[in-house]
Amino acid sequence: MSKPTYYITTPIYYPSNKLHIGHSYTTVAADAMARYKRLRGYDVMFLTGTDEHGQKIERRAQEDGVTPQAFVDNIVDWIKELWTTMDITYDKFIRTTDTEHKETVQKIFKALYDKGDIYKSEYAGMYCTPCETFFTEHQLVDGKCPDCGRPVERVKEESYFFKLSAYQDRLIKHIEENPEFIQPQTRQNEMLNNFLRPGLDDLCVSRTSFKWGVPVEFDPGHVVYVWIDALSNYISALGYLSHNDEAFKKYWPADVHLVGKEIVRFHTIIWPALLMALELPLPKQIFGHGWLVIDGGKMSKSKGNVVDPSILVSRYGSDAIRYFLLREIAFGQDGNFTNEALITRINSDLANDLGNLTSRTVAMIEKYFEGGVLPEVQEENEFDADIKSLVKTQIQKAEDNVEKLFFNNALEDIWVIIRRLNKYIDETMPWVLAKDEANKAKLAGVLYTLSEGLRIVSIMIEPFMPQTPEKIWAQIGVQRGELTAWDSIHTWGALPKAALAKKGENMFPRIDKEKELEILETANTPKTEIKEEVKQEVKEEPKEVKEADYITIDDFAKVELKIGEVIESARVPKSDKLLVSKIKLGEEVRQIVSGIAKYYSPEEFVGTKVVVVTNLKPVKLRGILSVGMVLCAADESGKLVAVGPLEDVVSGSEVR
Ligand code: ME8
Ligand code: MG
Repeated sequence: MSKPTYYITTPIYYPSNKLHIGHSYTTVAADAMARYKRLRGYDVMFLTGTDEHGQKIERRAQEDGVTPQAFVDNIVDWIKELWTTMDITYDKFIRTTDTEHKETVQKIFKALYDKGDIYKSEYAGMYCTPCETFFTEHQLVDGKCPDCGRPVERVKEESYFFKLSAYQDRLIKHIEENPEFIQPQTRQNEMLNNFLRPGLDDLCVSRTSFKWGVPVEFDPGHVVYVWIDALSNYISALGYLSHNDEAFKKYWPADVHLVGKEIVRFHTIIWPALLMALELPLPKQIFGHGWLVIDGGKMSKSKGNVVDPSILVSRYGSDAIRYFLLREIAFGQDGNFTNEALITRINSDLANDLGNLTSRTVAMIEKYFEGGVLPEVQEENEFDADIKSLVKTQIQKAEDNVEKLFFNNALEDIWVIIRRLNKYIDETMPWVLAKDEANKAKLAGVLYTLSEGLRIVSIMIEPFMPQTPEKIWAQIGVQRGELTAWDSIHTWGALPKAALAKKGENMFPRIDKEKELEILETANTPKTEIKEEVKQEVKEEPKEVKEADYITIDDFAKVELKIGEVIESARVPKSDKLLVSKIKLGEEVRQIVSGIAKYYSPEEFVGTKVVVVTNLKPVKLRGILSVGMVLCAADESGKLVAVGPLEDVVSGSEVR
């Protein structure tokens, strides 16, 4: 008999920057589910990948002076490495720059065009010339470009459109008839009430204003715009419309697309409409999860509050980070990230609860029984029945919760067992039993219950924390096989009576919180919220210089000026004036806040060379430390233009 199949996907990530811990949440969740299904005997296809086309990538590459392909290759390598360190077991990694994907997208586009579902028309929108970006009227801020604040023009561009509006009624019907289709429930209501029932517009699916995309085969001036390219990955990855579509036949429709809440709309409206147009079955479920937030705000590069997952993994190990992400965030809701919450979880749940249960159990068996082997003759005690029934109930609950993707609840279900077993140690007091030879059988019974409980727990945590089970098994004398199979947790007592214990490494050493927080603070982890109000404006009022107020060369020499290269820049949250930038001055990199956000977008500013006053007393602007100042020319209107060298010169060069 062939195995049942299970197809799960993450969104494909934009490789415009390195990913942060928020991105890794989706992938870790999908991985946990994929692992669980494999353990339950499914033939799993777990897909992840990258969404590599579009204007943003094209521009980022330009700024770096590399081709878009070279630019994305570099970041994609980094992403794959990250997934390796986080033990992500994807079955396929799709890149929208893969030839097979591009071919499938072209075929889909052509098929929809031939059917009349795609037609040529004109796209009217607002265009910001300096940013080279289109906006809808709705996206403008005070009628101006939302990115740079400059005026925009109304323009028309020839475009292809997808007849999304034609699918409105069928979509509503499908969603109403399939309550499992959009989860959690709240997202379903949101889609119906806010988007579907008010009515759908046709969707612009091609562009002529940039080149970095899949060309429309029959109209080469056009590239396929965003959603047809990105969403098709879920079927192109399986070989849809290619010479080998076996995987497509085997795995489609997907069991679940796991996506962040901001893209639920694309996955529950555009994607099913495209599939309907292609006459393909719809995915069984789209699950929209919440965000990992910092002080209530979404983690994002432009806010400068991103947390690099690779730093955390290197300090605490992948299992601890995976555990934290899945435990702390209630699926479907936002979860808050703080370093403190992370360390608290590691110390209490991992070091205390699970770590101690393991080390106490193993240490007692080794101490009380020759060679760490329990005798076959064992006696039960009055707490055993309770343990067995609790374990049974918790297994049932945990399995139900995992099936629903409620990982935080599932982990809590497992930890109920762990904490109960720790309490069992206090109740049975093995150290008291050990004092009397007559209690040997009773003592052996207690330690057997603990070992068997530990075996069951270690199997249950495997989808979430894939490295830890092996470490536990090595200590309770179990080898991977029948005794570690998921199904074996349903049989209490599968562990042989003569269980063998052998002390191993400390799996989760306690972390010194104070010390660790300090280290993390400097390791570029979340910046705390900026509450302080600005008193200082960045621009210093120029003092009037009277004719005779000359300064000497020595006076001038007090000001240390250097050429700096802007290597990173982001808007300061809640400020429309300030950018916070990392500026390279030779070997050194400084953080400098500048009041130029109205005149330069972070993207424009990065890569420029500027003149920096390097010996200015550091100040805090909106609570952000600024060490130095970028020189700007100011015209009468107050417009600022950053001052830089006329020819290229290495950063760190003195200006004098
Ligand atoms: O949206 N917390 O890519 P993306 C939780 N390419 N999840 C987060 C998060 C956070 N702080 N930040 C981002 C795209 N994510 C498109 C998808 S699919 C056909 C195309 C999640 O790199 C986000 O919600 O911007 C999304 O699900 C995923 O990361 C990819 O985001
Ligand atoms: Mg996004």
